[in-house]
Formats: sequence, C-alpha cells, structure tokens
Amino acid sequence: MARDPLPAGVETPAYLYDVAEVRRCYALLRQALPQPSTVYYAVKANPHPDLLTTLRVAGANAEVCSVGEVDAAIAAGFRPDHLLYTGPGKRSRDIQHALELGVTEFSVDSRHAIDQLAGLAAAADRRVRCLLRVNDDLAVPGPGLVMTGVSSQFGVDLGAVLADPAGFASRPNVEMAGLHLYMGSNIDSEDALVAQFTQAAHTAHRLADALRTRWRVVNLGGGFGAPFARSGVLPRFPGLADRLGATLDEALPGWRDGTPAITFESGRYLAATCGALFTRVLDVKESHGKRVVVLESGVNHLGGMSGLRRLPQIAPDVELAGTPSETVGPAGPAQVSGPLCTPLDLWARGAELPAVRPGDLVRVANVGAYGLSASLVTFLGHPLPTEVVVDGGQIRSSSRLTLTRCPLPASHGGTDG
Ligand SMILES: Cc1ncc(COP(=O)(O)O)c(C=O)c1O
Repeated sequence: MARDPLPAGVETPAYLYDVAEVRRCYALLRQALPQPSTVYYAVKANPHPDLLTTLRVAGANAEVCSVGEVDAAIAAGFRPDHLLYTGPGKRSRDIQHALELGVTEFSVDSRHAIDQLAGLAAAADRRVRCLLRVNDDLAVPGPGLVMTGVSSQFGVDLGAVLADPAGFASRPNVEMAGLHLYMGSNIDSEDALVAQFTQAAHTAHRLADALRTRWRVVNLGGGFGAPFARSGVLPRFPGLADRLGATLDEALPGWRDGTPAITFESGRYLAATCGALFTRVLDVKESHGKRVVVLESGVNHLGGMSGLRRLPQIAPDVELAGTPSETVGPAGPAQVSGPLCTPLDLWARGAELPAVRPGDLVRVANVGAYGLSASLVTFLGHPLPTEVVVDGGQIRSSSRLTLTRCPLPASHGGTDG
C-alpha cells in the first residue's frame, strides 16, 4: 500500500497515485503467473495517463472497452496491436475508429458481433483476430462478481457454441484466433483462482476440439483481488504459477512454446494500492447522540452511485421509439444491460420488452431528474449523450458535455515547471 504524504501545496481534495507502487504490483502479479504469459491492464480500473505509461513501460498490454479507452491507451504509447478491445456491445463507428488506429484484436460476445466486425474489417481492408468470449456453464465460486454460468451480456453460452461450431468459425477478414474466458473479479483466494482458471483451460480444450482448431491465444481472464477503500495489502498467490502451469500442460499442451499464447487481465490488482484520496474534515458535531463528521468529499469523489441511496432501484420502461426494422418475434421479458464492461451495468433483469433487433431505437420516459447528472460519467470512457432542448416542438439547443484534463502548475503538485 502506498503511504506517500500529500505533497506541500497540493489543494484538497486530491487523489495521489504512486507509480512506483504500480510497478511493484505489476512485478508481483507477473511472479504469481505461469510463464510465458502476457498481462493486459484493464484500463477501466484507472485510465490516468501516467498509470498507463508506467504499465506500458513495465511490459503490460492494455484491455480497452470503449473508444475513450482506446484513445487513452494509444495516447499513452501502447502499440495498437498490444490492445485487446472488449465489451458486450460495440458501436460500429467505435470499431471503425479502432481499425483506423491499427487495433487488430477484438473480443466478441455473439454471432452478431463477429459479423459486425467482419463487415467493418472488410470495408476497412483490414485483417483482424478475434477472441470469442464464452459464458461457461459453471459459475465460479468466489467473493467477487460472477460473470459466467448465469444469464449475462458477456459472451456466448458454451452450449450455443458447441451446438453450432460452424457459426463461430473464421470469416474472410476475421480470424477466430482464440478465446476470452473472463469469469469473475475480486477473488483473493488462490484456490478459487486455480479453480476458475482450470475450468477455463478445460473449456478451451473442449472448444478447440469442437471447432477443430488450435487456439493461438487463450485469455484466461483474471479477477485478482485487491483491497478497496479500506486498509489492507494485496493478496499473494505463491502456488498459482506452478499449479496453473501443470493444468495448462494437461489441457493446452504447447502453451510453453506459445501456442496458445496465455494471457490474463487485471485492473484492481495493478492499480488499487497505488492511490489515496486526500480530503479534509469540514465540520464535526453531535446529532441525536451521534458524532457526525462532514468531509470535503462524499460519493461525488469516491463510491459513486452506491452511496446515492435517494435513488430508487432503476427499473425503466423501455419502449420502441420508431418503427422496428422488421418483426422478429413476440414481446417478452429480457435482461436490459448497457455496453459497459462490468456486470453492474444492468437496468433490469426481467423487463417486459417489445421484440427488438440491433439498430432499433428505444426510449425511456421521465428521466429529466437524476438522469445524466447523477451518472458515473467518467467511468469507462464512453462519450456522453447529446442533450437536446426543445420548446414547442422547436429545437432550442443541442450540446454535449465534455471533460478535459487540465495540467496544473507545480504549485498545485503538477510536474510541468
Ligand atoms: C473483461 C474484463 N477484464 C478485466 C476486468 C478488470 O477486473 P479487475 O479490476 O477486477 O481486475 C473486468 C472487470 O469487470 C472485465 O470485465
């Protein structure tokens, strides 16, 4: 855990990041993993340019899941072919942007996503590799978020791939090069990690047989736990490298020579312990027998929506906002998720929804209060929505909020000058 004091002259509230701690965490994770393997930094954990540069120089690749994260990684000097572009729903224009920048590896979560990527790669005259994200049959036990064995926006059900292997074969401009088997996050038990990676390795073996292929890449995911907003140190996994190495020898022989290349992803293990939020007490008082401490920072600076208990659970009515392009079956219940690369991006588990298909326009009414301004707008780097104001049917204004990083002079703790 980084223990640096707040440098003199820095105005609070302030986050302080220690990149030496980032290098230490990266080295610890590398030691814990079987070699050869590659670690992708999950940019969603903290896209600060200095963290990205530190991890790039240390040897990490980058896992990105929005156009903002692609741009942040490229700006930090990552080679485009060292990026893995993931996410359960990608806008075509964002894929086009990534292709123009030279990104060559994409994780895909459905047949539609493979076809979408193939069409765009062909139009751009690019050949790309994709990793098929698979939603395995078993939920992996552990304290963190579970992303497999349950209904999810992430990946294709294992059974669906086994039932129609040809549907997941390479396309002219897209090589089906590997698998993406991210199963959960924030796991601090070595046994639980070994269990999930063993499961993933056996699934990779099974799918190689079914698709009659030899994987070039198997991304086993990650989920390496770290403390959050409480004191504590990183968990260690002293036996993981050997135990997992033995499993890989059995399930994916050839991995020691790089076929398949074994890759992992980690966000919090690499970034959590490097940062501290410094803030000041503004007031202390007694209220009905309790001490109340008022700080400069609240959920606006840490914890986000989880602290905003005045908001009711969201259960939006999603209605069609245009003529559906085609009738595609009956209305019925559906899980409604967004495009963010986290299972928490969920509007409803079982909402009644009309029949819809990619491209249809939908609408949620009555969100003028606690809508955009109560949202976690910087998390994951997607562009903000346009805001259009109409008056009597006439457009009064159309705008989009932007956020800009402003370098501060040295008196504020900046480095320039
Ligand atoms: C696909 C994928 N990779 C990496 C991560 C990063 O997880 P963590 O910060 O727990 O390492 C996540 C988190 O949700 C994820 O969904």
